[in-house]
Amino acid sequence: MKLAIVGYGKMGRMIEHIAVERGHSVVACFDIDNNQRGEGLTAESLAGVDAAIEFSTPETALQNIRRLVELGVPTVVGTTGWYGQLEQVKQLVQANNAALVWGANFSIGVNLFFKIVREASALFARYREYDPFLIEQHHKFKKDAPSGTALVLARLMQESYGERAPEAVSLRAGHIPGTHEVGFDSEADSITLTHTARSREGFAAGAVLAAELIMNKQGIYEFSELLFAA
Ligand SMILES: NC(=O)c1ccc[n+]([C@@H]2O[C@H](COP(=O)([O-])OP(=O)(O)OC[C@H]3O[C@@H](n4cnc5c(N)ncnc54)[C@H](OP(=O)(O)O)[C@@H]3O)[C@@H](O)[C@H]2O)c1
Repeated sequence: MKLAIVGYGKMGRMIEHIAVERGHSVVACFDIDNNQRGEGLTAESLAGVDAAIEFSTPETALQNIRRLVELGVPTVVGTTGWYGQLEQVKQLVQANNAALVWGANFSIGVNLFFKIVREASALFARYREYDPFLIEQHHKFKKDAPSGTALVLARLMQESYGERAPEAVSLRAGHIPGTHEVGFDSEADSITLTHTARSREGFAAGAVLAAELIMNKQGIYEFSELLFAA
């Protein structure tokens, strides 16, 4: 595939590395220098691009998504912190017959973790003596809190817990790798499920896989829908 990378920061660079390793080529890169307000994303600059992978900032994601969707470029969105506008993006994708996959977390391990948490919540919610909790920790550079991944976990727990569902507790310090912990605590015992990201490679590999999976599709998908359908 010929890929465009939108947001050439820590994730963008790692995605370039993994994409080339998997035999794709990166034909265009956009960052704040050439795309401050989305103006770099044009029919000319994206000519011949099969898919774009967007990992920028919560403030810039929406303008980039809008331009990519309107230009008909299949798009993978890894940026978090814009989900308040998800409904608006769904309508935009539908109106343009476009293709977009978004994911709060593109690691395959986290997507399996999501399934485990949903199942565990369904089991524990039957026993009122267990209180659920949700804690997420990240490095000090992360801009949004709670993390997009924690918001997904909270939503999954809410399916079983309703009003008793916990809100995520967030911690930002130093260089902590992304860590998400879900627990169920009773007077007698405590059960915890923890996912710790060891590097950014898992996210980058998942994002490149998402670009491969969105090719020749139409509509808007959450990453796990494509991952587990493959
Ligand atoms: N879904 C997942 O699996 C996953 C995994 C990891 C991270 N993330 C999310 O991905 C996003 C990026 O993370 P990161 O660690 O790569 O952050 P980062 O290193 O800060 O990279 C963000 C990049 O976007 C650039 N940028 C700013 N405005 C832009 C614009 N208008 N168009 C294009 N690029 C622009 C920034 O440039 P300047 O630095 O020059 O401003 C920077 O290079 C965050 O929202 C993070 O939470 C998601």
